Amino acid sequence: MVLRKPHYFFFLLIRMLLLNPTGSTAAAMADNNMEADALLHWKSTLPQPSQSLLVSWNASINHCLWLGLNCDPSSSIIALNLSNFLISGTLHSLNFSLLPNLDTVKFRNNTLHGNIPPSITSLSKLTVLDLSNNLLSGNIPPPLGRVMSLRFLDLSYNSFSGSIPGSIGSLPNLTFLYLNKNVLSGSIPEGIGNLNSLQELFLHSNSLTGSIPGTIGNMTSLAKLWLQQNQIHGSIPPGIGKLGSLRELDLSANYLNGSIPGTVGNLTGLNFLYFYGNQLSGTIPWEVGNMQNLYHFELLNNELTGQIPSSIGNMTALSVLYLFENHLSGPIPAEIGNLKSLQELAVYTNNLTRSIPSTVVGHHLPELMDTLRQSWPTRWKPRKRATFTASEWSRWK
Ligand SMILES: *[C@@H]1O[C@H](CO)[C@@H](O)[C@H](O)[C@H]1NC(C)=O
Ligand SMILES: *[C@@H]1O[C@H](CO)[C@@H](O)[C@H](O)[C@H]1NC(C)=O
Ligand SMILES: *[C@@H]1O[C@H](CO)[C@@H](O)[C@H](O)[C@H]1NC(C)=O
Ligand SMILES: *[C@@H]1O[C@H](CO)[C@@H](O)[C@H](O)[C@H]1NC(C)=O
Ligand SMILES: *[C@@H]1O[C@H](CO)[C@@H](O)[C@H](O)[C@H]1NC(C)=O
Ligand SMILES: *[C@@H]1O[C@H](CO)[C@@H](O)[C@H](O)[C@H]1NC(C)=O
Ligand SMILES: *[C@@H]1O[C@H](CO)[C@@H](O)[C@H](O)[C@H]1NC(C)=O
Ligand SMILES: *[C@@H]1O[C@H](CO)[C@@H](O)[C@H](O)[C@H]1NC(C)=O
Ligand SMILES: *[C@@H]1O[C@H](CO)[C@@H](O)[C@H](O)[C@H]1NC(C)=O
Ligand SMILES: *[C@@H]1O[C@H](CO)[C@@H](O)[C@H](O)[C@H]1NC(C)=O
Repeated sequence: MVLRKPHYFFFLLIRMLLLNPTGSTAAAMADNNMEADALLHWKSTLPQPSQSLLVSWNASINHCLWLGLNCDPSSSIIALNLSNFLISGTLHSLNFSLLPNLDTVKFRNNTLHGNIPPSITSLSKLTVLDLSNNLLSGNIPPPLGRVMSLRFLDLSYNSFSGSIPGSIGSLPNLTFLYLNKNVLSGSIPEGIGNLNSLQELFLHSNSLTGSIPGTIGNMTSLAKLWLQQNQIHGSIPPGIGKLGSLRELDLSANYLNGSIPGTVGNLTGLNFLYFYGNQLSGTIPWEVGNMQNLYHFELLNNELTGQIPSSIGNMTALSVLYLFENHLSGPIPAEIGNLKSLQELAVYTNNLTRSIPSTVVGHHLPELMDTLRQSWPTRWKPRKRATFTASEWSRWK
């Protein structure tokens, strides 16, 4: 059946009545025009090259057919997905108050600059907000903590500054929080511990100071905790051992001091533990041997003393063990020979007895490191180090 123009209008009207049987069609259409107009207004403020990328955004086309939009059955806009659109300009003229049904807003990987418009905090149904990989700046607006529906918040790879608003701790369903690669300062808010649905917390590569809040142990859903490359002081809270779902823990390249709490041994599901590049002192706790799913154990470049605990021989999944640049003493425990998956062992620049135990000799260790090899110049890049070649290895024996 071919629909000519008058029929088409009639068809639309019938479709609206069918899809929206209880609501007032006229009111719904007026609301939807308001939504479309809000987007057209924003489009008109963008630099010309960006406008031409939004060619389908045209008042003479049903807005539900515009590229990057999704509508609900009543033609109200619920998703705005303009990721990878090459859009520059700002969000200042986009009045989110006029798009009240939005549940998804994605502007990932564009070149937007300027601030987050305050009106975004009026979106009471918003579950996904992804503004990552842009040139956005200014503060993270504290009222964002009133958007209770949020589950996914990604502001990473921008130039946001100021502190992390404490209000973020009141988002009951927040599951993913990525604020990494900005210039955020101040301390991590205590209230973050209330986020007991949170699975991934990435705050790395900012300028955060203060200490790790003791409440961190309350975030029992956490699987990934990445706080590396900040200026975080103080000690590692023992409560961290309560994070039973944790698989990745990166606290490297900060100013953490004090000793490594024995409770880390409770993190039996952990696959990666990076504490390198801090000022941690005291001994390596015996309990580390309980972490039998750990692949990477990197404590290099700290001020650790005492002996390497023989319990390390129980960390049977271990593939990388970096203990170099500490003040460890005594022998390398023979139990290291039990680590059948070990690929890289680096213990140089310590005060260890100069001998590799016979249990390790003949073991397949492609990149075994010399215990006496001198320090590594680039502090935060342990992977780019000199390797211990086969010929050096034979000389060593
Ligand atoms: C909208 O589409 C119509 C018909 O395709 C076209 O004539 C008009 O120039 C377009 N308007 C804009 C602003 O692109
Ligand atoms: C959003 O857009 C990007 C690219 O434009 C696409 O890869 C992605 O699948 C879209 N996501 C959704 C939920 O539509
Ligand atoms: C970013 O968007 C551009 C333009 O669409 C695309 O070419 C590029 O692959 C995207 N980058 C990423 C990391 O998705
Ligand atoms: C956005 O729209 C709301 C609702 O119409 C209005 O009250 C408000 O003044 C608008 N804000 C801006 C910045 O235009
Ligand atoms: C949080 O999620 C639950 C379960 O999906 C839902 O019932 C509840 O309404 C959500 N809370 C908010 C404030 O959106
Ligand atoms: C959260 O952590 C604090 C400090 O560790 C503790 O006092 C409090 O009881 C915890 N709250 C919950 C709900 O576990
Ligand atoms: C850790 O550093 C703080 C200063 O940031 C200092 O007050 C504290 O005494 C240090 N603790 C240890 C155990 O070195
Ligand atoms: C955590 O570790 C500590 C010290 O290693 C231990 O006393 C405690 O029982 C452990 N807690 C849990 C819940 O396993
Ligand atoms: C290694 O684990 C076994 C069994 O879990 C335990 O009996 C033993 O004490 C552990 N050895 C060390 C050195 O931690
Ligand atoms: C290194 O170890 C030896 C013997 O174990 C000890 O006498 C010496 O003081 C230690 N040196 C340092 C710098 O810790």
